Amino acid sequence: MPTGFQQLGGEIVSGTLALSVFTAVLGSLEFGYNIGVINAPQKIIEAEYNATWLHRYGEPIPSGTLTSLWSLSVAIFSIGGMLSSFCVGFVSEWLGRRKAMLINNLLAFIGGSLMGLSKLCMSFEMLILGRFVIGAYCGLASGLTPMYVGEIAPTSLRGALGTLHQLAIVVGILIAQILGLESLLGSEELWPVLLGMTVVPTVLQMSLLPFCPESPRFLYIVRCQEHHAKRGLRRLTGRQEVGDMLAEMKEEKRRMDMERKVSILELFRSQVYRQPMIISIMLQLSQQLSGVNAIFYYSTSIFMKAGVQSPVYATIGAGVVNCAFTVVSLFLVERMGRRTLHMLGLAGMCICAIVMTVALALLDSVPAMSYVSMLAIYSFVAFFEVGPGPIPWFFVAELFSQGPRPSAMAVAGCSNWTANFIIGMGFQYVADLCGPYVFLIFAALLLFFLIFTFFRVPETRGKTFDQIAGNFARVRDMDMDMAMDMNMDMDIDMDGDMDKPSTELAYLGEESVN
Ligand SMILES: *[C@@H]1O[C@H](CO)[C@@H](O)[C@H](O)[C@H]1NC(C)=O
Repeated sequence: MPTGFQQLGGEIVSGTLALSVFTAVLGSLEFGYNIGVINAPQKIIEAEYNATWLHRYGEPIPSGTLTSLWSLSVAIFSIGGMLSSFCVGFVSEWLGRRKAMLINNLLAFIGGSLMGLSKLCMSFEMLILGRFVIGAYCGLASGLTPMYVGEIAPTSLRGALGTLHQLAIVVGILIAQILGLESLLGSEELWPVLLGMTVVPTVLQMSLLPFCPESPRFLYIVRCQEHHAKRGLRRLTGRQEVGDMLAEMKEEKRRMDMERKVSILELFRSQVYRQPMIISIMLQLSQQLSGVNAIFYYSTSIFMKAGVQSPVYATIGAGVVNCAFTVVSLFLVERMGRRTLHMLGLAGMCICAIVMTVALALLDSVPAMSYVSMLAIYSFVAFFEVGPGPIPWFFVAELFSQGPRPSAMAVAGCSNWTANFIIGMGFQYVADLCGPYVFLIFAALLLFFLIFTFFRVPETRGKTFDQIAGNFARVRDMDMDMAMDMNMDMDIDMDGDMDKPSTELAYLGEESVN
């Protein structure tokens, strides 16, 4: 067991905490890998489908059938994720966070094997089924990882460690892009290895998880095992004295015992959770509908127009920018706060989308515009990773206390996957319809999400889960008062800082405490 200690942001990171976070985000790495892996070998796998068809039926595959089969292979991943992300709450309560991650690896193993062996068995059905199973794995991992990391992280590091989930995703995408090069694994013979490689992090995670402690927050608040929770806390903090953290959990548990467990249905019905629920869903949508996946789709053809020698490497460059700025976000998130970074990211993306549209429209008359559009793409990706990329994942866990958290994570995850699926299936049609102006749609959406964030999203940096939930309760009471007494609403607006919307006042009051 590693026992080294390291200083990070004034907080001591114990070896156990580092190991546990590393082990958990291996799931995110795999998630990213499977997002990125399918793009590079598209042509080769399509040829394989064709050969299989020829072998079975004695005629080449009709091109329409091939397109459908390929779209299905890509999109069924999101369907698997959509379905399984809905089970995150149930599975994480039933098995516990750690065991759920452990057992989830079985899905990755089955999915990876199905895809890896599909060429050998000459069966595209196996590849499609494998994509579905690995999608189901990723759906669970995309909920379990932020939940576990958020629960074991000390309050002052929750954002920074939460960002590691997104960092691991983008590193996974980058690894997949690099390994997918034709000279490496993206070749006719080796593509099954490329797809099957996904079992490597699986094996690593399975062998490391037994050394990680179960989330003490889960043990104490859900299972009521104070003794085990204390031992876990000691290992994670590297301190003998964990009374303060236990006291904080005790407070959360006390509150939870009053509010009891919350099902997904109740989540939507109850007034108490409506506001944080809307915020959670909107943040997930702001991530997926920002158009970042569309950018990755378009990048190769734009780089080609820009006269770049090998667009494949330019796309890998975008992957590198992706990683670099996730690291930037990692260091900024505890300093500047979630709300500020999210707005900064959305605003930057909005401007880049407009610049890109203009550059693409002028491309034929002004050749230099190709470089402007390339710069705009890189900046777009950079701004995405500053805010809308990493923040929605862990923000949901922060907005809810232990009772409603699993259900809330499930709903948020499901809306993320649904938006992902819609963009994946629908973008092509809209792009054909609008040409380069398609990015203006994203600019409008980004502006909308920016305004929403400004007026509705609270800052959660440096606050305990309990304080955050408490703030919502207070704002709700305030909203009710306002509804009853419009004069008070006026007063607040007049007296308050004009830069801040009135709903923010309650959060600002809390700021001085920290
Ligand atoms: C399938 O392969 C055959 C040759 O084996 C080729 O003529 C045909 O164009 C291919 N079909 C598609 C849709 O790629």
